[in-house]
Amino acid sequence: MRIVEWQGGDTGILNDLCLHPDDPAAMRRVMCPYVDQRMAWLRRMAPSGLWVAVATLSDGQKAGLIECVPIELAAEPVEGGGGMFINCLWVLRQFSGQGAGAALLEYVLDKAGPDSSVSVLAYEGDRWFGYFSYMPARFFRRFGLAEVDRDGSRVLLHRGPGSEPGPKLMTPRSRTPEPSPTGLPVVEVLTSSQCPWAGWMYHRVVEGLRRLPVEVRVVSTDDPDVVREYGLTRGVCVNGYPLVRRMASGREVVRKVIDYLRDRAAKP
Ligand SMILES: CC(C)(COP(=O)(O)OP(=O)(O)OC[C@H]1O[C@@H](n2cnc3c(N)ncnc32)[C@H](O)[C@@H]1OP(=O)(O)O)[C@@H](O)C(=O)NCCC(=O)NCCS
Repeated sequence: MRIVEWQGGDTGILNDLCLHPDDPAAMRRVMCPYVDQRMAWLRRMAPSGLWVAVATLSDGQKAGLIECVPIELAAEPVEGGGGMFINCLWVLRQFSGQGAGAALLEYVLDKAGPDSSVSVLAYEGDRWFGYFSYMPARFFRRFGLAEVDRDGSRVLLHRGPGSEPGPKLMTPRSRTPEPSPTGLPVVEVLTSSQCPWAGWMYHRVVEGLRRLPVEVRVVSTDDPDVVREYGLTRGVCVNGYPLVRRMASGREVVRKVIDYLRDRAAKP
């Protein structure tokens, strides 16, 4: 396993990882613009300290990546603490179980060294779009990262020199959104340029809700002020209530929105 670091410039080394040529054509059509948006975002962020390590196999195939930033620039709703934050660890499913995930995480931990902190937002029991473990906390715990905060299944993990307080999760906030001119419930889908899958989530939510009497809006959380306002970077708010606090499938979101609106309507 070879690890190659990207620190800015040409993003060619990062192609075909978030979205793979074997992914279904319909998905690729929707997601390609979001992948381009991610690449532009990476180039913008690199001068501020973002870097990505890519694992390649002995035959040169790319197996996965890990993306890190100084924690102040984390693509997740965290605050405080110091050191490095892992925005994403991703091993292509066709290469899982071959040590790429471990090699990438160990690379980051070695690079940080014992005197510097590393944090990651992981999940317990959540399925990635319903079918595989999404940033599994159990995997990161194996490498010595320990829980410092949690909100339901979202678990903030941290490894650092003992004296320093770890980071905290922001609290998802209820807000009052700009009302819909038509008086419909407002469904806000929070996405960021960091992950093209957030774009896919938005697309699926719009499709899934198109027959319902709701107004769907997209909210970009690229702006840190927006993250502080919502206390979230990815998820779905209904009439300002943070109903889904992570990436989710369109199907899951639609079900939750319907249940939520029905429950609210039933309340006196
Ligand atoms: C979790 C993940 C990184 C593991 O990568 P991998 O290359 O298959 O893992 P490795 O082969 O390096 O496994 C290393 C060890 O961790 C274990 N492991 C693998 N997946 C695990 C999991 N989900 N939970 C706990 N342990 C796990 C392996 O069994 C192995 O144990 P061993 O050393 O005792 O044999 C990978 O499955 C992945 O990318 N999942 C999706 C993550 C995600 O949601 N990313 C966000 C996308 S934006």
